[in-house]
Amino acid sequence: AYTAEPFLPGRGGLAALREAAAGCRGCPLHLNATRTVFGEGSADARLMLVGEQPGDQEDRKGKPFVGPAGHLLDRALEEAGLDPAEAYVTNAVKHFKFAQTEPGKRRIHRAPTLREMTACAPWLERELALVGPELIVVLGATAGKALLGSSFRVGRVRGTVLEEEIHGHRERLVPTVHPSSVLRAEDRDTAYRGFLADLEVAARTLG
Ligand code: URA
Ligand code: SF4
Repeated sequence: AYTAEPFLPGRGGLAALREAAAGCRGCPLHLNATRTVFGEGSADARLMLVGEQPGDQEDRKGKPFVGPAGHLLDRALEEAGLDPAEAYVTNAVKHFKFAQTEPGKRRIHRAPTLREMTACAPWLERELALVGPELIVVLGATAGKALLGSSFRVGRVRGTVLEEEIHGHRERLVPTVHPSSVLRAEDRDTAYRGFLADLEVAARTLG
Protein backbone atom coordinates (compact mmCIF):
# COMPACT_ATOMS: atom_id res chain seq x y z
CA ALA A 1 0.00 0.00 0.00
CA TYR A 2 1.07 3.59 -0.50
CA THR A 3 2.23 5.17 2.73
CA ALA A 4 4.39 8.03 3.98
CA GLU A 5 5.21 6.01 7.12
CA PRO A 6 8.81 4.99 6.18
CA PHE A 7 9.70 8.64 5.54
CA LEU A 8 8.66 9.97 8.96
CA PRO A 9 11.53 11.01 11.23
CA GLY A 10 11.99 9.07 14.44
CA ARG A 11 12.14 12.24 16.49
CA GLY A 12 12.24 16.02 16.37
CA GLY A 13 9.86 18.93 15.99
CA LEU A 14 8.12 20.64 13.10
CA ALA A 15 11.38 21.58 11.37
CA ALA A 16 12.54 17.96 11.28
CA LEU A 17 9.12 16.86 10.10
CA ARG A 18 9.06 19.40 7.28
CA GLU A 19 12.56 18.41 6.17
CA ALA A 20 11.61 14.73 6.09
CA ALA A 21 8.40 15.45 4.17
CA ALA A 22 10.44 17.15 1.44
CA GLY A 23 11.82 13.70 0.57
CA CYS A 24 8.56 11.75 0.80
CA ARG A 25 7.90 9.23 -1.95
CA GLY A 26 5.07 7.50 -0.13
CA CYS A 27 2.68 7.65 -3.07
CA PRO A 28 2.96 8.45 -6.78
CA LEU A 29 1.93 12.12 -6.39
CA HIS A 30 5.54 13.16 -5.81
CA LEU A 31 6.44 12.07 -9.36
CA ASN A 32 4.71 14.90 -11.22
CA ALA A 33 4.52 17.66 -8.62
CA THR A 34 7.35 20.15 -8.17
CA ARG A 35 7.79 19.79 -4.42
CA THR A 36 6.21 18.81 -1.13
CA VAL A 37 4.10 21.67 0.21
CA PHE A 38 4.24 21.23 3.96
CA GLY A 39 2.25 23.08 6.62
CA GLU A 40 3.29 26.57 7.68
CA GLY A 41 3.01 28.30 10.99
CA SER A 42 4.04 28.16 14.61
CA ALA A 43 4.02 25.05 16.79
CA ASP A 44 2.27 27.31 19.34
CA ALA A 45 -0.64 28.13 17.03
CA ARG A 46 -4.05 27.88 18.74
CA LEU A 47 -5.81 27.43 15.41
CA MET A 48 -5.06 24.87 12.70
CA LEU A 49 -6.53 25.15 9.22
CA VAL A 50 -6.63 21.99 7.12
CA GLY A 51 -7.19 22.16 3.35
CA GLU A 52 -7.17 19.53 0.63
CA GLN A 53 -3.90 19.66 -1.27
CA PRO A 54 -1.66 22.37 -2.74
CA GLY A 55 -2.78 23.97 -5.97
CA ASP A 56 -0.75 25.25 -8.91
CA GLN A 57 0.58 28.36 -7.14
CA GLU A 58 1.33 26.48 -3.94
CA ASP A 59 3.26 23.86 -5.92
CA ARG A 60 5.39 26.61 -7.50
CA LYS A 61 5.98 28.56 -4.30
CA GLY A 62 6.19 25.70 -1.80
CA LYS A 63 3.70 27.26 0.63
CA PRO A 64 0.08 26.34 1.37
CA PHE A 65 -2.79 28.65 0.42
CA VAL A 66 -0.84 31.31 -1.47
CA GLY A 67 -3.03 31.20 -4.62
CA PRO A 68 -6.57 32.46 -5.30
CA ALA A 69 -8.21 30.17 -2.70
CA GLY A 70 -5.65 31.33 -0.15
CA HIS A 71 -6.39 35.00 -0.82
CA LEU A 72 -10.08 34.41 -0.30
CA LEU A 73 -9.35 32.41 2.84
CA ASP A 74 -7.15 35.16 4.31
CA ARG A 75 -9.75 37.82 3.60
CA ALA A 76 -12.51 35.77 5.25
CA LEU A 77 -10.35 34.92 8.27
CA GLU A 78 -9.57 38.58 8.84
CA GLU A 79 -13.19 39.55 8.43
CA ALA A 80 -14.11 36.88 11.00
CA GLY A 81 -11.56 38.32 13.43
CA LEU A 82 -8.97 35.55 13.04
CA ASP A 83 -5.37 36.46 12.18
CA PRO A 84 -4.17 34.25 9.27
CA ALA A 85 -0.55 34.82 10.37
CA GLU A 86 -1.25 33.23 13.75
CA ALA A 87 -2.79 30.05 12.37
CA TYR A 88 -0.98 26.86 11.44
CA VAL A 89 -2.06 26.15 7.85
CA THR A 90 -1.72 22.77 6.19
CA ASN A 91 -3.31 20.27 3.81
CA ALA A 92 -4.54 16.69 3.98
CA VAL A 93 -2.31 15.81 0.99
CA LYS A 94 1.11 17.41 0.55
CA HIS A 95 1.69 17.11 -3.20
CA PHE A 96 -0.24 18.84 -6.01
CA LYS A 97 -2.30 16.41 -8.11
CA PHE A 98 -3.18 17.66 -11.55
CA ALA A 99 -4.01 16.76 -15.12
CA GLN A 100 -2.25 18.44 -18.02
CA THR A 101 -3.24 17.81 -21.62
CA GLU A 102 0.09 19.02 -23.06
CA PRO A 103 3.36 20.30 -21.58
CA GLY A 104 3.10 24.05 -21.02
CA LYS A 105 -0.70 23.89 -20.81
CA ARG A 106 -2.56 24.85 -17.68
CA ARG A 107 -2.36 22.27 -14.90
CA ILE A 108 -5.86 21.35 -13.79
CA HIS A 109 -6.41 20.32 -10.17
CA ARG A 110 -7.63 16.77 -9.59
CA ALA A 111 -9.05 15.45 -6.33
CA PRO A 112 -6.79 13.02 -4.47
CA THR A 113 -7.98 9.43 -4.15
CA LEU A 114 -8.67 7.73 -0.83
CA ARG A 115 -5.42 5.75 -1.27
CA GLU A 116 -3.42 8.96 -1.68
CA MET A 117 -5.15 10.58 1.29
CA THR A 118 -4.46 7.52 3.41
CA ALA A 119 -0.82 7.44 2.30
CA CYS A 120 -0.30 11.07 3.27
CA ALA A 121 -2.24 10.97 6.56
CA PRO A 122 0.79 10.28 8.82
CA TRP A 123 2.16 13.77 8.09
CA LEU A 124 -1.03 15.46 9.22
CA GLU A 125 -1.22 13.21 12.26
CA ARG A 126 2.29 14.31 13.31
CA GLU A 127 1.54 17.97 12.63
CA LEU A 128 -1.53 17.70 14.81
CA ALA A 129 0.45 16.05 17.60
CA LEU A 130 3.23 18.68 17.48
CA VAL A 131 1.02 21.77 17.19
CA GLY A 132 -1.76 20.58 19.50
CA PRO A 133 -4.19 23.30 18.38
CA GLU A 134 -7.19 24.36 20.47
CA LEU A 135 -9.36 24.32 17.37
CA ILE A 136 -9.18 22.86 13.87
CA VAL A 137 -11.00 24.49 10.96
CA VAL A 138 -11.74 21.78 8.42
CA LEU A 139 -11.78 23.25 4.90
CA GLY A 140 -13.95 21.02 2.75
CA ALA A 141 -14.75 17.36 2.23
CA THR A 142 -11.24 16.03 1.64
CA ALA A 143 -9.90 17.50 4.88
CA GLY A 144 -13.01 16.24 6.67
CA LYS A 145 -12.57 12.70 5.38
CA ALA A 146 -8.87 12.75 6.23
CA LEU A 147 -9.57 13.78 9.83
CA LEU A 148 -12.97 12.26 10.57
CA GLY A 149 -13.34 9.34 8.19
CA SER A 150 -14.87 8.66 4.79
CA SER A 151 -18.47 9.13 5.95
CA PHE A 152 -17.81 12.84 6.57
CA ARG A 153 -20.28 15.13 4.74
CA VAL A 154 -19.50 18.82 4.99
CA GLY A 155 -23.09 19.97 4.33
CA ARG A 156 -24.36 18.24 7.46
CA VAL A 157 -21.91 19.69 9.94
CA ARG A 158 -20.57 22.95 8.55
CA GLY A 159 -20.61 25.83 10.99
CA THR A 160 -20.98 23.57 14.02
CA VAL A 161 -18.46 22.74 16.74
CA LEU A 162 -17.56 19.04 16.73
CA GLU A 163 -15.69 17.20 19.45
CA GLU A 164 -14.05 14.07 18.16
CA GLU A 165 -11.34 11.65 19.15
CA ILE A 166 -8.57 11.83 16.53
CA HIS A 167 -5.47 9.63 16.95
CA GLY A 168 -6.18 9.32 20.66
CA HIS A 169 -6.67 13.04 21.30
CA ARG A 170 -9.91 14.88 21.94
CA GLU A 171 -10.09 17.58 19.24
CA ARG A 172 -12.50 20.46 18.66
CA LEU A 173 -13.29 21.12 15.03
CA VAL A 174 -15.38 23.53 12.99
CA PRO A 175 -15.95 22.24 9.46
CA THR A 176 -16.71 24.51 6.55
CA VAL A 177 -16.56 24.42 2.78
CA HIS A 178 -13.33 24.68 0.83
CA PRO A 179 -12.54 28.28 -0.20
CA SER A 180 -12.20 27.11 -3.86
CA SER A 181 -15.87 26.18 -3.80
CA VAL A 182 -16.68 29.80 -2.96
CA LEU A 183 -14.68 30.93 -5.99
CA ARG A 184 -16.54 28.46 -8.21
CA ALA A 185 -20.02 29.19 -6.83
CA GLU A 186 -22.65 30.62 -9.14
CA ASP A 187 -23.79 33.00 -6.41
CA ARG A 188 -20.44 33.93 -5.00
CA ASP A 189 -21.70 36.53 -2.52
CA THR A 190 -24.02 34.06 -0.83
CA ALA A 191 -21.33 31.39 -0.80
CA TYR A 192 -18.85 33.83 0.71
CA ARG A 193 -21.30 34.92 3.41
CA GLY A 194 -21.89 31.28 4.35
CA PHE A 195 -18.15 30.63 4.53
CA LEU A 196 -17.66 33.75 6.65
CA ALA A 197 -20.47 32.73 9.02
CA ASP A 198 -18.74 29.35 9.59
CA LEU A 199 -15.42 31.07 10.31
CA GLU A 200 -17.19 33.38 12.75
CA VAL A 201 -18.29 30.27 14.66
CA ALA A 202 -14.63 29.25 14.79
CA ALA A 203 -13.60 32.74 15.99
CA ARG A 204 -16.20 32.70 18.79
CA THR A 205 -15.19 29.17 19.82
CA LEU A 206 -11.54 30.11 20.01
CA GLY A 207 -12.49 33.21 22.02
N1 URA B 1 -6.30 24.52 -1.85
C1 URA B 1 -5.96 23.77 -0.78
O1 URA B 1 -6.71 22.93 -0.33
N2 URA B 1 -4.79 23.96 -0.24
C2 URA B 1 -3.92 24.86 -0.67
O2 URA B 1 -2.85 24.95 -0.09
C3 URA B 1 -4.29 25.64 -1.78
C4 URA B 1 -5.48 25.44 -2.36
FE1 SF4 C 1 4.28 11.56 0.37
FE2 SF4 C 1 1.91 12.75 0.69
FE3 SF4 C 1 3.48 13.47 -1.30
FE4 SF4 C 1 2.25 11.13 -1.41
S1 SF4 C 1 1.28 13.15 -1.41
S2 SF4 C 1 4.42 11.51 -1.87
S3 SF4 C 1 2.31 10.52 0.77
S4 SF4 C 1 3.92 13.74 0.87
